[in-house]
Amino acid sequence: MPQTEFMEQEPKLTIALPKGRILAETLPLLECAGLRPEEDLHTTRQLMVDAANGVRFLLIRAADVCTYVEQGAADMGIVGRDLLLEHRPHVYEPLDLGIGRCRLCIAGPADLVARGNPEAGSRIRVATKYDHLTEQYYTAEGVHADIIHLYGSMELAPLVGMADRIVDLVETGSTLAANHLVEEHTLYEISSRLVVNPASFATRKSRIAPVINAFSEAVSESEHD
Ligand code: PRP
Repeated sequence: MPQTEFMEQEPKLTIALPKGRILAETLPLLECAGLRPEEDLHTTRQLMVDAANGVRFLLIRAADVCTYVEQGAADMGIVGRDLLLEHRPHVYEPLDLGIGRCRLCIAGPADLVARGNPEAGSRIRVATKYDHLTEQYYTAEGVHADIIHLYGSMELAPLVGMADRIVDLVETGSTLAANHLVEEHTLYEISSRLVVNPASFATRKSRIAPVINAFSEAVSESEHD
């Protein structure tokens, strides 16, 4: 088979991107890595968008990126360290992209936090979407945490008396402050990572390795700006 025909048949390299606040920081990295999309990812209603060099992007919710990459529906993806720590997906994590920087924190009402950490043997109610990490932390502290699983707007739970603490991402701290909460403890520093499906990496290494390198160079360049 002639080489050109073979090239045409090779499936596109599929990269899952999170919609939402990380996307604005992702676009300059894509540009710098030579992966410019054919549509404006901020405004398009398409969920699958072609890019240069035989690449296509999937635009999905941040929480779903790992699923697409784990299932092999995407070869690669961009995902927050918080989700990797919480869900432990079976993916490779070759690169810290240095975007989406924030921290995973325990926070609570100022008067409660002022009384100090919950004592070993005590029982508290914690609202979070990070059930596993929360449980892990409080178990190590000897505190019984009743986890109240929420999908967002965690800061509301203490205000209405539903929880004593929250475990959530904090970036600027303005959402905590606006809801009269203060940080008590940082569990993890967070940033977005490039992840790769292990089977894709094994079978398409010659396609994937240059893309990882391009991202790596783009990250280095952005750090020197
Ligand atoms: C995130 C996070 C906090 C907020 C922190 O929520 O869950 O609520 O941002 O940011 P800040 O420290 O800069 O105020 P997001 O807006 O992503 O929505 P969510 O409620 O869906 O998590």
